[in-house]
Amino acid sequence: MKQLWTLAALLLLLGSCNQQKTNNETKDDTAALEKTWWKEGILYQIYPQSFKDTDGDGFGDFQGVIEKMDYIDSLGIDLVWMNPFFESPLVDNGYDVANYRAILPRYGTMADFDAMLAGFHAHGIKFVLDVVVNHSSNQHEWFKQACTSRDNPYYHYYHWWPAEKGEPPYRYSLFDPEGGWDYVESVNAYYLHTFAEEQPDLNWENPKLRQEVYDIMKFWAEKGVDGFRMDAFQFASKDTTWPKFPEGHEKDFIKWYGMRPQLHEYLKEMNEEVLSKYPVFAVAEGAGSTFQDAHDLVDADRKELQMAYHFESVDLSRTPEGYTLSEFKEVFSRWDSAFAKKGWIAIFLSNHDNARLIDRFGNTSAAFRTPSTQMLNTFLLSMRGTPYTYYGDEIGMTNIDMPNIEDYVDVDAKGKYRAAVASGADLDAFMKVLNYSSRENGRTPMQWGGTANAGFTTETPWKRVNENYKEINVALQDQDPNSILNHFRKMTQVRKANPVLVYGDYKVLQKEHPSIYAYTRTLGDEKVLVLLNFSSEKAAIGLSGLEKFGNMLINNYPELEIEDFEVRLMPYQAVILKMEP
Ligand code: NOJ
Repeated sequence: MKQLWTLAALLLLLGSCNQQKTNNETKDDTAALEKTWWKEGILYQIYPQSFKDTDGDGFGDFQGVIEKMDYIDSLGIDLVWMNPFFESPLVDNGYDVANYRAILPRYGTMADFDAMLAGFHAHGIKFVLDVVVNHSSNQHEWFKQACTSRDNPYYHYYHWWPAEKGEPPYRYSLFDPEGGWDYVESVNAYYLHTFAEEQPDLNWENPKLRQEVYDIMKFWAEKGVDGFRMDAFQFASKDTTWPKFPEGHEKDFIKWYGMRPQLHEYLKEMNEEVLSKYPVFAVAEGAGSTFQDAHDLVDADRKELQMAYHFESVDLSRTPEGYTLSEFKEVFSRWDSAFAKKGWIAIFLSNHDNARLIDRFGNTSAAFRTPSTQMLNTFLLSMRGTPYTYYGDEIGMTNIDMPNIEDYVDVDAKGKYRAAVASGADLDAFMKVLNYSSRENGRTPMQWGGTANAGFTTETPWKRVNENYKEINVALQDQDPNSILNHFRKMTQVRKANPVLVYGDYKVLQKEHPSIYAYTRTLGDEKVLVLLNFSSEKAAIGLSGLEKFGNMLINNYPELEIEDFEVRLMPYQAVILKMEP
């Protein structure tokens, strides 16, 4: 007989269920994993330019972060990673650093930074610095010096192809359709840039350059930062014999352009010089192209980095066609199993390089925006790995409409458009994909309230606020116990109260189920069951054979429908149930 179970009723029922205990195939085999704060923490990513403006210049600033410190703390997060805020000509919004020890004035002063860092620490929140050292800005003093003469020691801080050898062999550039080499007349040589022309690659083969980087990291570690995110680091070591790569594979980046064996030597050195000397951890952006690569980066015994993040999950949904749940499960299950016994990864579905979480993985319609975002946040906060939440995803911020290329300021979007024009592509089709997938979607001002400019600034914001700010904002959701925001807060508490969600062994159930993602997490005698409906339809899953259910840890609907051992989930329903031993 079908019944609807509220939380209280469910507890009664579950307590009386007397199912057979399964054998110990899901027994905790992760005990060997060393337990540390950066594994147990939940990370919140702040894009400083878009968080909160206090001086009326239309750009977010450190004082704005300080003003919102209690809000950040209220999320129940433990770490904040902030995108670059160093002196920069801003060709790539700060990922082109002109001085690694100076603050870009729009964000405030070094004293403001110190106050912000102290504020985080006073709230028990650790701070992760973005370290952008695969490349610098072409406005960095090192590059300016390098361009004066081949005899200048800074010339060797970069990669060059002397023009007397003819044209350099073709290198693909991620942001520049004209390719990865650019000519400098004063030295009669071409320099390499993996990203934009204004972001020359640093030469990690030069020990002097490496020492400069370690000194920069020490400078920030001495200030008290707790972690480093190594931007684009897999490109730091490349094959400098500059071989020609097989036709058609020019864009196969990691394989042909990065992750050379020397990378590990550099990381060991960095670990010895910096990471081992301070109470910090470091996370690599990118995890190579194989599990072996990823393991080698983060295997604690190798003394390199502590955490890595791969792109396979965010790559699942780059076009309006979206993704399938079976691919989604496959990617997360595969990466989980690769790190089950050793190493550690980050779990994320969005960041400043991607369009918004809900547009790509959830459902933006008024009916399903709330449950689908809650469901995705339940997923992120119930997997093994350190969860990364991007600002705005805790309230379900969405993409904005940017149909014309003039709407974009991003170097990546502009580069891709130039490439589309040059190749004679269908520009209407191109713009549709860009409008959906551009990372600029994920950089709009934080929606604090229903007042002008969503309360982000009193003046003109650097980027227009999403028109939906009156319906999607912090002030509204703060009042509503069932909001996306309050669900997020509940979920961070659930994760903290249940170490099984951090360290527990992961096992996917009924992998072929077309709309429900079901998995267990097990740590010693503790076991939880996570049920997530990824679809806009009701869906059922038979669960006979599992142990008896216990407490319901979270549910984004008021009830859970169970008939015998079949659980029926509402659209985008997300529940976590404890299992009784
Ligand atoms: C990765 C960063 O996340 C991205 O925003 C940036 O454009 C490139 N690296 C270059 O630094």
